[in-house]
Amino acid sequence: MKFLMLAVFLWSFNSFAKDDEKRQGMAEVREHYMSAVGGNMGTIGAIMKEGVKQPGMIANQAKALHEISSDILTVFEKGSDSKDDDAKAKIWTEWSKFEKKAEAFKKASANLVAVTSKTKDMKKIGAAVGKLGKTCKGCHKSYKEKD
Ligand code: HEC
Repeated sequence: MKFLMLAVFLWSFNSFAKDDEKRQGMAEVREHYMSAVGGNMGTIGAIMKEGVKQPGMIANQAKALHEISSDILTVFEKGSDSKDDDAKAKIWTEWSKFEKKAEAFKKASANLVAVTSKTKDMKKIGAAVGKLGKTCKGCHKSYKEKD
C-alpha cells in the first residue's frame, strides 16, 4: 500500500512538473520575443530621438518587426500562462479581444514598412512610428501586468 501511494505521488508529481515545464517553455520564449520587439522599437526611437539621418535603418527595423509580428499569437498559445510572467490570465478568457490587439500591431507594423519604403520624410515616418507605438500600449494596458 505504501509503495502504491508513493508510486502515485511520484507519477502525479512528474506530470505536474512536465506541465510546468511546458508553460515555462513558451513563457520563456515569449519574454525573449517581446524583448526583441522592444529592441526594434527602442532602436527606432533612438534613431529618431538622436536625429540620426538614417531612415533606411528605420525601414529595416520596421521590416524585422513586421516579420516577427506574425508570431505574436503563437507566443501566447493556450496553456502558456505562467505564474511568474506579466501576462494577465484574461488573455486566454477573452482571446478574440486579445486577437484584435495583435491584429492592430501587425497592421501598424505593415503600415510602417509601407511608409518607410515610400518616403524619407521624418514627419511621416514619425507619425507611423507613433501609430505603431499606440498598438503596443493598447495591448499592454489591458493585458500586461504593471505597465
Ligand atoms: C497583443 C498584445 C501585445 C502587443 C501588440 C505588444 N505586446 Fe509587448 N507584451 C504583451 C504582454 C502580455 C507582455 C507580458 C508577457 C509576459 O510576461 O509573458 C508583454 C511584454 C513586453 C515587454 C517585456 C518583455 C520582458 O522582458 O519581460 C516588452 C519590452 C514589450 N512587451 C514591448 C512591446 C512593444 C515595443 C510592442 C509594440 C511594438 C509590444 N510589446 C506589443 C503584449 C503585447
